[in-house]
Amino acid sequence: MDKKSTYILAIESSCDDTGVAILQNDKVLSNVVANQEVHNKYGGVVPELASRAHQQHIIPVITAALSQANISKKDLDAIAFTNGPGLLGSLFVGSAFAKSMSMALDIPLIGVNHMHAHIMAHFIKEAGYETPTFPFLCLTVSGGHTQIVLVSDFFTTEVIGETIDDAVGEAFDKSAKLLGFPYPGGPYIDKHAQQGDPKAFEFPHPKTKKALDFSFSGLKTSVLYFLQRNLKDNPKFIEENLDDICASIQDTIIRLLIKKLKKAADQHQIQKVAIAGGVSANSGLRKALKEAEQRYGWKTFIPRFEYTTDNAAMIGIVGYYKFLAQDFDTLSISPMARLKL
Ligand code: KG4
Ligand code: ZN
Repeated sequence: MDKKSTYILAIESSCDDTGVAILQNDKVLSNVVANQEVHNKYGGVVPELASRAHQQHIIPVITAALSQANISKKDLDAIAFTNGPGLLGSLFVGSAFAKSMSMALDIPLIGVNHMHAHIMAHFIKEAGYETPTFPFLCLTVSGGHTQIVLVSDFFTTEVIGETIDDAVGEAFDKSAKLLGFPYPGGPYIDKHAQQGDPKAFEFPHPKTKKALDFSFSGLKTSVLYFLQRNLKDNPKFIEENLDDICASIQDTIIRLLIKKLKKAADQHQIQKVAIAGGVSANSGLRKALKEAEQRYGWKTFIPRFEYTTDNAAMIGIVGYYKFLAQDFDTLSISPMARLKL
């Protein structure tokens, strides 16, 4: 125990993963995530089942996080938790637990915006990882959001482009469902795409009124019609072309993301570009960003895999910076499903 350090326990329960992390200042001592298998057979997250599973997981996950960090509850300086956006029933489990802990231990309570946390994951201190300097652009791509954010300091963010319909993670997951993959299908598309030809098939890039906005709902429809058309002639079309179909869908999505990022970088004259959120785990997107770094002279920031999909370490790093700013919440704070960045 280093008495001069700040120890934060962070809880993430916005969707279907129960996460708890312990941070010592800006370093992660433990980061435990319990995934919920229960949704796989439904092809998507069932909110009612998600909140029940959080109830079952939260105590074992907290116990594991404390034990892996090798500290005791009485060493904690604050409790941080996800206050939104997310599924309300899931958020309630984390917030009720966070409030009880803060009250029982008589330490501050810190509510955290999940989308802010995805971006702030870049400030977790790790050997060999260079953190971004301000200002930078962050493409935040997850199952619920697709945003280009101008980040001016730890707490000042401006959304300069976002999806007008589906999130990019949904585009991956819905396309994957049409191909017969379990939920969430994004990682399966990624895996198969690595062996496929991205130019094998073509899918359209939708237009949006605002240059930096995204639209993904049309992609799912065009994948659906494309599969129906081809399956009519060849019932084995999917299995015979799976890698090429995945590579082509993924390539369509990635080219669109990079195109918009380039527009944003030019418009705002910012050459520092980060990615965050579950879809930033995608190997094709990570590679495309590295290529863009070479081509456009950007400096890019790609988070470590464990900090891309939902995790509590990212909630903890916001907790730490809010703790330094003495920005605490009262026990009357209440989760918001549509909390904005
Ligand atoms: O950030 P996240 O864990 O949860 C939300 O806040 O939504 O993101 C989950 C999303 C899912 O849509 C999942 O399919 C997608 O991230 N995802 C991926 C990959 N890993 C996770 N999409 C494409 N390729 C991946 N490797
Ligand atoms: Zn997320």
